[in-house]
Formats: sequence, structure tokens, C-alpha cells
Amino acid sequence: MDIIYIQNNQFQLNTLNTSYVMHNENGVLCHTYYGQRLPDMDHGYMAKRCRYNGDFQSNISENVPTLDNALLEYPVFGDGGITHPALEVLNADGTNFVDLRVVDYIVHNGKPAIDDLPASYCENGDKVKTLEIKTKDEVSGVEARLFYAVFYDYDVITRWVKITNNGKNAITLLKALSGNIAFDNKNYDVITNFGTWARERQIERAPLLHSGAIVESNCGSSSHYANPFIIMAEHNTTEHSGESIGIALAYSGNHKMSANLSRYNVVNLSAGISPDNFRWNLEQGESFSTPELVISFSGNGLNGLSQNFHTLIKNRVCRGIYRDKKRPVLLNLWEACYFDFTDETIKKAADSAADLGIELLVIDDGWFGKRNNDHTSLGDWNVNEDKIKCGLADLCEYVNSKGLMLGIWFEPEMVSPESELIKKHPEWVMQIRGRKPTETRWQLMLDLTNPEVCDFVYDSVAYVLKNTNIQYVKWDYNRTMAHIGSAYLKAEQMGEYYHRYILGLYGVLDRLTTDFPNVLFEGCASGGGRFDIGMLYYTPQIWTSDDTDAVERVEIQYGTSLIYPMSCQSAHVSVCPNHQTGRTVSMQARHIFALTGSFGYELAPEKIADNDREYIKEFIKFYNDNFDVFQSGKYYRLTNPTNDDFAVFQYVYNGRVIVGAMQMSNHAVNLQNTVRLKGLEPNGIYLNKATGKKYCGSQLMQFGLPLNVCTGKNDYCAFVWDLSLCD
Ligand code: DGJ
Repeated sequence: MDIIYIQNNQFQLNTLNTSYVMHNENGVLCHTYYGQRLPDMDHGYMAKRCRYNGDFQSNISENVPTLDNALLEYPVFGDGGITHPALEVLNADGTNFVDLRVVDYIVHNGKPAIDDLPASYCENGDKVKTLEIKTKDEVSGVEARLFYAVFYDYDVITRWVKITNNGKNAITLLKALSGNIAFDNKNYDVITNFGTWARERQIERAPLLHSGAIVESNCGSSSHYANPFIIMAEHNTTEHSGESIGIALAYSGNHKMSANLSRYNVVNLSAGISPDNFRWNLEQGESFSTPELVISFSGNGLNGLSQNFHTLIKNRVCRGIYRDKKRPVLLNLWEACYFDFTDETIKKAADSAADLGIELLVIDDGWFGKRNNDHTSLGDWNVNEDKIKCGLADLCEYVNSKGLMLGIWFEPEMVSPESELIKKHPEWVMQIRGRKPTETRWQLMLDLTNPEVCDFVYDSVAYVLKNTNIQYVKWDYNRTMAHIGSAYLKAEQMGEYYHRYILGLYGVLDRLTTDFPNVLFEGCASGGGRFDIGMLYYTPQIWTSDDTDAVERVEIQYGTSLIYPMSCQSAHVSVCPNHQTGRTVSMQARHIFALTGSFGYELAPEKIADNDREYIKEFIKFYNDNFDVFQSGKYYRLTNPTNDDFAVFQYVYNGRVIVGAMQMSNHAVNLQNTVRLKGLEPNGIYLNKATGKKYCGSQLMQFGLPLNVCTGKNDYCAFVWDLSLCD
């Protein structure tokens, strides 16, 4: 077994269950195959399928009228194909073509870092190798090094590209995607997430047509609207059977992912930084690295594909002590009091939360400057002494004395027009000279392309963390970018703005997470508006949505789980009627469906009725006793909550099995009577801890679990099964 097997101009990248094969045809890197694992051998006959003779001009002689039938690993603009190029360069002479030919390759043990960008990583003992293929345009001197990191045990391959201008003249990159995979169509469906505020990551599945499919964001962040991934699944692929390929971009800014179907039925799947309003100048000797593209194939249905992404993201993207350490059960006070609190009310909340077994209390927006509503003070990160008279350090001491950690909210990338910061530094605002910058939610954005502004952002957060014992930061971001411009950048750099902003953000997050390794950072962007692999490198959990209604969350968390692990999705139990939908759902349902995430609360603890307090205490104990199942277990989607009467999930970890179910809609006659479990040992005997009854794994997987517990009960009736494998 070779992780990277090279022979006869063929590069075969092997993971436990998959192979990704390319071949070098007269210097042009072509795709050969991606799918179930193949033996290490010659795949020459497959390579012929590429039908690319290595000469852009004389392709016709091969009876192939255009390059649309060729499977290219990194198509360039101007090569004669009509599919979307991955690279477009503006040469000094005004032309756009570069002819990239393979000149060399090298295999690295492990995985090199990507300049200034978040990326998956490997640890000692991991079976990871990286193939670096060097391509070059002899005329212009432009070089593109294509990297392929192979995570053997994870069934994941990641790709990125480093472009270097080794020519004599400056060039400009107009488009530099992270990768392209071309393969023959197999009746594919395209699966994507669309969404909006409080309704993030809804799943759409439709056949891939010749008009193609595009997932893109041009609002400056990865966005609520179009999460940066695409899954291609064969028509007959279901949750638990059939083939699918997924690609997800480790990037938090503007992105463009597309699936194109050529007239010869070749699929081109590509992804990278959005080329819209993107230019990057490369002087002689300078390089540009693209974000990383994470790719996986599964022959075990969509759930199998999700598990591949989950395992990689949980273990080799998330970092820091909280990658493996139990996440604290947190209580966020936002919905409890919004801006209306004092140190005394927080102390009362701490007393009450401690009694419930909460481990981390979070003060959300409103603790700084003169912030009594959302019109003011972003940027003035000094404590609001009208509200918190004792100061943050003392308040923290009080909360700690109750056995709780204290956490705090920041929105560090923003500034309020009504703030001290803007009076001092109007030039730090993202703005086009001579135009009034746009306000959204009464706020402007700071210009993170300016290193001085990045230092300010770092210092504001670091000051609080150095001078208090605050152990958690919620990093919020509540608007989209508009009127892009900078008082700092030169005119010729304005096309670099969006990407430079994201590099500025990553730089600050890198410094903070390095300097405060014990602090848990949680991402947020008006809920889940920046939920991507790039952010998860710095913040191992992200606030999934501002919609805290348990029923709505079922679908949001379901859609998010296509790519992202449950432990990365913060999920809170909130009060009823729910603040976003007015819906009332049982305490039980709200708790059970917060288990499909990093578990917490969003309510005023001192207002909870006595009988609910007892339920909460018991539930927190149940969560704590099983946190490793939720944090490290395999996650199974057993039903589709959008179409089925029940939403049912399952975790499996070291012989322990936890199943949660919610009746989405009640009917006089139940048509969904059982749900079959997954991933059990067929001959194993499983004990239901609550009833003492025993079941055989094959019974639970073949016949299933009866859902009649809810018959005759209301909508949203929910229950949990807690099983463990007997010795
Ligand atoms: C948006 C977040 O998603 C909420 O949870 C809350 O932190 C508010 N911002 C505060 O302004």
C-alpha cells in the first residue's frame, strides 16, 4: 500500500477507501479517476479517456473539437476550453494566457502549512503525505505548484495552489481558484445549502443540468446565504447508500464554487476565492497561495460523506485545548436580558446558574462603552461602568467564586459611528474616499487591511483577557461588507481588498488563539453567517443560528451537519414562547435537540420554575456523563426532518449509543412506526439503561426502534434512548 503511488506518468493518491488518480499528458495534468479504492497499478486505459493530446492548438486532430471533453486538474483561461477556468492571469502585455506544464514533482511526508491561511494539519503518527506538482509557463515564467495532501485514515484529500511570478514582469491574478476536479457525469444531483439570517443552511438537491450550479458569496464573508461547499451525489444515493463527492472550502470570505456540465457531459467541480472584484498583483518573485479545498468521496451514502468531513474537521482542523477537552455547558444571557443588565443582575444569574450545574456564564452584547442598545459604542472596548460598577475583573472573580467560568462578547471588526474610536480614527473605517460609508445595524466596518487596525483589534481583546480571568470569547460579526475601500491601501491594491481583509482577520485570530491558548473562542456572525472551515481553525465552535426555536433548529442543524461536526455547532435551550417564532415546545424536546451541538442555554436562570430546574439539573448530568459520545461519537442522520414525520439522530461511540427523536408533525394515524439504527455491532447486545431491556444490534438495525412512544401526543413530542453494549 502506498499513500502516493507514482508510475508511468500517473499519480495515484490512496486513502483507506478511496483513490484519486491523475496523469501527466505531455506536461498537462489531467484527472483520471476519483472514487472507490483501486489497487496500485497502471491506469493507462483510463487516462486515454482524457483524450487530451497535450497540444492546445492541435486538439482537433484527436477528433476532439474542444477541450470540453478533457478532464483538466487546473484549467487556465485561454486554453481553448469553454468550461470555467481555475486560473486567469493578466500578463504585462495585456494578454491572459499561461500554458502550465508539469516540470517536476515531489512527495512530502506530512503536510506543509499554507502561507497565512487556516488549513487542516497532521500530527505525529498520522498517515499523511503531500504531493506537490510543479507546473510552469516557459514563456511568462509563471509557476503554479499544485498541492495534494492525502489524509489516509480520513478518506480526505485536500488541495491548494501556490502561484509564483518567476517572470521578468509584474503580473496580476484575475482568478486563482483552489482546484478543479473533472469527471464524467453519472446522473449527478447537486446538493447545496442556501439560507438567510435565522434560517441558515437549508438543504437543496437538484439534478445537475448543463446550465450548471453555482454557490457564491460576494458579501465579504462566507455568508448565511451560500455555504462554501458542494456535494455531488448520484441520483440514487441516499443517506446510507450510494456514492457522493464533497468539496468544502477552508475560507471565510467571498467564494465561488461551481458545478458545470459540459456538452460532452463532463462535470467540472471547482472552488476558490470569488473572482468577482478580485485582483492580486504579483511582482517579480512574489507568490500567492489559495485557500485549501477539502475533498472527500464516500461509497456509503451522504451520511458516510458527512462523517468523513466531521472526523477531519473535529480532529485535524479544530485546534487548541478545546479540540479534545469537554466543552463547558454554557449559559448565554443574550435572550435573558438583551442590553438590560447590571453587575448585580449578572451576579444573581451566576448564583442561580451555579445551582443548575452550568459551567460557563456568558455576558453578551452591551457590557462596554455606552452600549445600552445597538446604536453605539462598538470599538470602545472599555467596561460600561454604569452597568458593571464593580468592573469586569471583580465580576469575574465573583462568578468564578461560584464555580463558574465567565465569558464575554466582542464584535471586534466593527465600529459605531457614535463611538470614541471613530472620533480618534475616522481613517480606520472601511470606506471609499469622498463617499459616505454605508451603515448596517448602525455600524461601520473597520479596515482590517491596515496592520495598525489589526493591532488595535488584537489589543482590545487581549487587554480584557490579560486583565481578567475571562475564559471564553464570543466573536461576533453582524453585517455584510459594502462600499469596499481603504484609506490605507494604494489604488492599485483595491482589488485585493476582500482577501486582504480576511488575511487581516486570520492574522488577529492567530495571535489571540496563540497568546491565550486556554480561552475558548466561539465564532458568530448574526448567528451562522460565517460558518466555515476557515473559522473553525480558530474557533472550535460557532453559534449556529440566531433562531433558537428547537423545531427550526432541527432543520438548521440537519443542513449544517452535511459538512460540519455537531460539536462545532453551538446549540442552546431557550425559553418558550420562543423569541423568534413564538412557538412553545416541551422542555424535553428543546433539550434533546440541543444535544446535536455544543450544548448550552440561552435564558434567565433565576426565572426558571422549580420543576424545570430539577429537569435541567438532571439533563446537565446526563450530558456531562455522555459528553464524549456527543463530542467524539459518529453522528447518524436517521430521518429527513423536512419530509419525515420524525426527526431522529443517533450518536455511536465506544459501544455507547444515544438516539434522539422528535415528532415533527402529529397525525391521528402514525405512518412512521420504526426507525432503523446504524453502525451497531450486529451480534452485540445493547442495554437500554432506562428500562433495563436488552436488544441485539441486528434487531435494532434491521427491525428498528419503535416510534410509537409519541402516538397520541402533541407535535414535537421528543424522547431519547440511551443504550450501551454489554460486555
Ligand atoms: C448577533 C448574535 O448572533 C446574537 O447571538 C447576539 O450576540 C447579538 N448579535 C448581539 O448583538
